[in-house]
Amino acid sequence: MALAADLRILWKVLLPGARGADHADRLEAFYGAQAGDYDAYRRRLLHGREEMMQALPLRAGDRLLDLGGGTGSNLEALGERIQLLRSATVVDLSPSLLGVARERLARHGWGNVTAVEADATAYEPPDGPVDLITFSYSLTMIPDWFGAIDRALANLKPGGVLGVVDFYISRKWPTAGMRRHSRFQRTLWPALFSWDNVFLSPDHLPFLQARCETLKLEERTGRMPYMLGLKAPYYIFVGRKPLKRS
Ligand SMILES: C[S@@+](CC[C@H](N)C(=O)[O-])C[C@H]1O[C@@H](n2cnc3c(N)ncnc32)[C@H](O)[C@@H]1O
Repeated sequence: MALAADLRILWKVLLPGARGADHADRLEAFYGAQAGDYDAYRRRLLHGREEMMQALPLRAGDRLLDLGGGTGSNLEALGERIQLLRSATVVDLSPSLLGVARERLARHGWGNVTAVEADATAYEPPDGPVDLITFSYSLTMIPDWFGAIDRALANLKPGGVLGVVDFYISRKWPTAGMRRHSRFQRTLWPALFSWDNVFLSPDHLPFLQARCETLKLEERTGRMPYMLGLKAPYYIFVGRKPLKRS
């Protein structure tokens, strides 16, 4: 039942932040009990994921990494185009979410997709750099997010494409053309999300813009379930790794 599933999720989300000896333990402490209910609830919380996936300029024979890919649900947004990929790899640190991902791969019969338990800040694809890399609501959960982006860029071919969708807050003084969030938003959302070890930052987006040529950028807000109509800021970024480091 949908309400019972929501209550199971809210119970986890509202409890004090998950604890553990290290990052992987804390993730599993948070996700272990909600893996089966994850997709239904996150569909209403994590906005813009399908749009980011659909904006990827995917070509036949490409290899894709989905870092912090969780249950692998975002791959469904590729539709028939998933068959064009030589390979797709869902990389995540949570064995419970990866279990759901593996059931999904089997159900769809996606023989070109695998799920790997690994840390996105250290993972190196065995066959060398890939064509496409995505982070969907995972950068805010990776403490060394700068290391994760740098590792991703090292794992991406020159001219390869990075797609990111995530919550964020603007800088107090953003550069021209970028959104500026109110003091209320810049205070409320980081405080609320940090309860669940989700760390909204004003720096993720400027860092991505500095490292990549921007192909697509949307700054938006999305409704939060059970939050009385409040909307949290999120962005969609699709960028190209430069052919040469300048
Ligand atoms: C909010 S979930 C998003 C999952 C999925 N990408 C989606 O859009 O539904 C964040 C994911 O990041 C994963 N994660 C956090 N830190 C990670 C790390 N260092 N390496 C790999 N995965 C990580 C978590 O286990 C979780 O699956």
